[in-house]
Amino acid sequence: MTTPNNKKTIDDNFCYRPDFKYTHDNPYHDKLGVFDSFVLRDEEAESNVGHWKERIFKNSHPLEVEIGTGYGEFMMEYCQQNPNINFIGLDHRFKRSFSVAKKLDKLEHKNFRYLRARGERIEFMFDESEVQSLFYFFPDPWPKNRHHKKRLFQKPFLNACHKVLSPGGTLFVKTDHDGYFDWMLDHLKDEKRFEILLQSRDLRKEYPEHFLSQFTTKFEKIFLSQGTLIKSIVLKNIKG
Ligand SMILES: C[S@@+](CC[C@H](N)C(=O)[O-])C[C@H]1O[C@@H](n2cnc3c(N)ncnc32)[C@H](O)[C@@H]1O
Repeated sequence: MTTPNNKKTIDDNFCYRPDFKYTHDNPYHDKLGVFDSFVLRDEEAESNVGHWKERIFKNSHPLEVEIGTGYGEFMMEYCQQNPNINFIGLDHRFKRSFSVAKKLDKLEHKNFRYLRARGERIEFMFDESEVQSLFYFFPDPWPKNRHHKKRLFQKPFLNACHKVLSPGGTLFVKTDHDGYFDWMLDHLKDEKRFEILLQSRDLRKEYPEHFLSQFTTKFEKIFLSQGTLIKSIVLKNIKG
């Protein structure tokens, strides 16, 4: 794509396109290769579409995916508490991915894979209805107006979630950010493909027993210590 003054710009939807290619020169890409028994990088993350269970996990347990794993607290705790699921965590930050991989390597239950990849690519990583649950906790809020277009939670992402989630599959979201929470609700206004199962501006107070209140991610700990209320949405995928 070119602008009138011939400068190359990146199309906002580039990451969602079939011809997207990862381009970078980050030393942590190679370093992550040490963990190739459970880490898949860039296009490798897209080489098992429709085959995760039988080819990679070699079982028929449900597939659950976390986008923006961060430092991996949720992934590690959840995987170890639920050995009968297949879990995939993904994040696009290199150094952070390397630090998570070092911790994952030491876990007892190996019911997971880790993808150094972009959340925009889920429809190229998973087949139609292949995923039972999607987790998306404390996404980058991109607070400035001119950066809102970088927020992951918008139409192309919702299209991809609808596609990869099984009928009745669930998208779990938590955020600290009021503006991003309102943005999400706005994007769900005319959305017939998801039923809102839970919507809260104070998850911990309104739903203390809910599964989402039982886990505290690294970023969540910081927000809670600052007295920030945790906002949450749980969506059920309607299909067929
Ligand atoms: C604020 S941190 C939250 C991390 C973790 N979920 C937590 O709650 O502690 C957001 C994470 O999402 C990752 N992230 C942001 N945009 C992403 C994208 N498009 N694809 C994959 N990861 C992304 C960032 O690298 C970062 O680790």
